[in-house]
Amino acid sequence: LSTHSAITLHINGEKYTLPVDHRTTLLDALRERLDLTGTKKGCDQGQCGACTVLVDGRRTVSCLQLAVAAEGREITTVEGVAEGDELHPVQQAFLDLDGFQCGYCTPGQICSALGVLEEHAAGWPSAVTDDVRPEAGPPPLTPEEIRERMSGNLCRCGAYVSIVRAVAAAAESADAAAQ
Ligand code: FES
Ligand code: FES
Repeated sequence: LSTHSAITLHINGEKYTLPVDHRTTLLDALRERLDLTGTKKGCDQGQCGACTVLVDGRRTVSCLQLAVAAEGREITTVEGVAEGDELHPVQQAFLDLDGFQCGYCTPGQICSALGVLEEHAAGWPSAVTDDVRPEAGPPPLTPEEIRERMSGNLCRCGAYVSIVRAVAAAAESADAAAQ
């Protein structure tokens, strides 16, 4: 039985075909095989969020996703977040509001924040209260709501206050742009 397959990954709008051992995680394929080292390895067991990428728009810890299972799906890593030469508003907010210290957790935080904004725009229910009436629209992204929704992304430097501020600022500008 073969333990390797050639797969095609769609990453940041590009197609990459590569042979992989079936046990290769998406994280290792990105970093070790494709030199997309923006995505970071922290715990390698689904606990820190440093390896977060978007798969079909959903936040995914790439250390727990097999590369073969990501074949044909749209993968976005931090390298694909900027819009041409312009930083994405989430990236800009992290810069403007010091949403990092050493920066190791930052690619995962940014991808996770993008997922939070999408989930919010899609009307996902509150993570912190059951008191949500669908007719009232999505719950406001309060600092508490952001902290809960970003709770899978750890920061060893403890930059949480600035991270929450940056996500809140990005959410505000996304709301303003939508009006
Ligand atoms: Fe994937 Fe920590 S490296 S969750
Ligand atoms: Fe250092 Fe988060 S900025 S781990």
